[in-house]
Amino acid sequence: MRKDITSPKRTAIVTGGSSGIGRAFVASLHRGGWQVVTCGRDAGKLAGLAKDFPGIHTHLCDVGDKASVEAFVDLVSSVHHDIKLLINNAGGMRELDFTQPDLLRQDLTQEIRANLEGVINLTAGLLPMLRASSPSHIIMVSSGYGLVPVTRAPVYSASKAGLRSFTKALRRQLKGQGVTITDVAPPAVDTPAALGYQGKKISPQHVAELTLAAAMRGQEEVYPGETRWLPWMMRLAPRWIENLVAKS
Ligand SMILES: NC(=O)c1ccc[n+]([C@@H]2O[C@H](COP(=O)([O-])OP(=O)(O)OC[C@H]3O[C@@H](n4cnc5c(N)ncnc54)[C@H](OP(=O)(O)O)[C@@H]3O)[C@@H](O)[C@H]2O)c1
Repeated sequence: MRKDITSPKRTAIVTGGSSGIGRAFVASLHRGGWQVVTCGRDAGKLAGLAKDFPGIHTHLCDVGDKASVEAFVDLVSSVHHDIKLLINNAGGMRELDFTQPDLLRQDLTQEIRANLEGVINLTAGLLPMLRASSPSHIIMVSSGYGLVPVTRAPVYSASKAGLRSFTKALRRQLKGQGVTITDVAPPAVDTPAALGYQGKKISPQHVAELTLAAAMRGQEEVYPGETRWLPWMMRLAPRWIENLVAKS
């Protein structure tokens, strides 16, 4: 298991590596000797990341924009070979109140584009390379809110539920082709995105380490921290857990 993580020549693509959980994945892979390629929308943040982790490759790409993803895939496939790991991490969450007026004038589907369409497009673009260098791995960073929706962020919850569904079907399509898919459903994680959240948070490093180890052994799902109870509670007391998570 550790042998794969520490392999010197293998390339890992991490979306959204400049902050939070993505940055923790980059740090862990960089330490393990991987060639790391990452992307984001903010050139300044990427430049800072490249300074902190010498040798990594950073590129501008908005995963919520299909043309941007196509350009990123073209660039990656022309420069990097032996891609063994894709980590679909980039994404964000906004609170949206559908009882407010004039909602249609707002961008309501940003999370669908970044958290779901972005993953679908990038995975489709890189799958030929992942299959060519099998055994290889894909990590999908979903969320506990993908199992049970939170009331204050309905579109985000829908994007992550959609991602989990996409992951399950894709895993079946890829059966026997040497590409494993690991879905990680974190609870609240201590990242810039969760600054305003006052409840218990786990560290992004813990999420990254746990998930990488699970992915390397082909584990299908990872539930760090408090989400480890979710699948059980969904069976034992679904109404109770739905009410609890809805208000979190
Ligand atoms: N933090 C939590 O509590 C928590 C819990 C469960 C799941 N998650 C999931 O974990 C993932 C990472 O979240 P985080 O908390 O680490 O957030 P974060 O600290 O805000 O980092 C998000 C990263 O993604 C990049 N990004 C965001 N939108 C992007 C886009 N459209 N295209 C390209 N890059 C983009 C950001 O860079 P730029 O801004 O420069 O683009 C940044 O590097 C997300 O998918 C999130 O839904 C987080």
